[in-house]
Amino acid sequence: MTANRSVDRDKSAGEHVQAGNGRHDDLDALTGLGRALAAAGEIPGAVEAFHKAILILLDAAMFPQAKRLIDEARSSGVDHPAFDDYKEAVDSAPVFFGFQGTHAPERQVYMSAAVHMLGTAGRPISILEIGTYMGASMITWARAIERFSGGIGEIYCLDPWDGADSAQYDDHMAEDIQSGLAYRVFQNATRFVGDGIKVTELRGFSDDILPTLAGMTFDIIYVDGCHLHPEVLNDLRSADALLSIGGFMCGDDLEVQLHELDRELVEANARNDFVLVDGGGGLGFHPGVTLGVGTFFGPVSAFGGFWIMRKTAEGYRPVQMRGKGLLPYHWPQEFVEQARRAVVDAGLLHEIL
Ligand SMILES: C[S@@+](CC[C@H](N)C(=O)[O-])C[C@H]1O[C@@H](n2cnc3c(N)ncnc32)[C@H](O)[C@@H]1O
Repeated sequence: MTANRSVDRDKSAGEHVQAGNGRHDDLDALTGLGRALAAAGEIPGAVEAFHKAILILLDAAMFPQAKRLIDEARSSGVDHPAFDDYKEAVDSAPVFFGFQGTHAPERQVYMSAAVHMLGTAGRPISILEIGTYMGASMITWARAIERFSGGIGEIYCLDPWDGADSAQYDDHMAEDIQSGLAYRVFQNATRFVGDGIKVTELRGFSDDILPTLAGMTFDIIYVDGCHLHPEVLNDLRSADALLSIGGFMCGDDLEVQLHELDRELVEANARNDFVLVDGGGGLGFHPGVTLGVGTFFGPVSAFGGFWIMRKTAEGYRPVQMRGKGLLPYHWPQEFVEQARRAVVDAGLLHEIL
């Protein structure tokens, strides 16, 4: 079944939120003020200060931090009816961290850097994501649009959110998709997207949906759906027809490239989601991604599993990672630090925000 509609965002949790970026000074000041007023027994003022600080955190998709501040406010006797409205959103947000936390968080920095490098400030950017799951990568795109692309853009999220083809997932992912949890968390995550960003849900399998997009073009297409072969290759071929000249094709889970492996071994595992490399000291890879990307492009620019190529009139060109990237503040602090270390150690980005 195919559904194509804009997500009906329930903005009750963040209606009056201003742009979250660059507001850390306000955040510190408001949090300090809230604490001081609470300690002095000035509860109405404390409520207002804590509430404003919490809205800044929610707006920046810093869910764990927002949750902590709500708990702190309440434990110091400061409460607001709106805190209950935020609770559902904030409580469910960490569900996707549990999954994503096992994944290299630095990839989110590179994704946001792609938006920065594209430099579409002044015109709306259009991103197509094949494979959205719980929406963590959607939030990364949204934050990058807010920060680097004038806050105006569209994100098309393509996913069946259907467990019919669950052989390709690990157990907990299959369970989260089958139970509908992944879809619910995604819908919840859309509440944290700025008003200038339109999120369009494309519910279905890429084979069915991508042909229906003929005539549209996108600035970035992120390929992170089915990881098996030939599905990845098919996605790349279909996506190629939808990508603008100058745009980026990119994706996840390219731990090892085809030219670095024995092609026969990769082909023999083309229907396995993930395999360990013999003697690789625990190194594993996704054969379908390796095979699809290697067959379509040959070697690509890859950064810790995130791969990216720029489309030109003369074909695809490698991409040098430069410019600014955003740390994934919508993930727990330990992963934010892990991402910071990874990109700083690799010397890949000039500036990380
Ligand atoms: C690895 S997850 C995506 C993770 C997400 N991009 C993120 O980083 O948060 C893969 C997703 O692809 C979806 N998927 C699987 N087969 C698909 C297909 N044929 N077409 C589109 N999406 C598919 C699954 O439902 C799953 O949600």
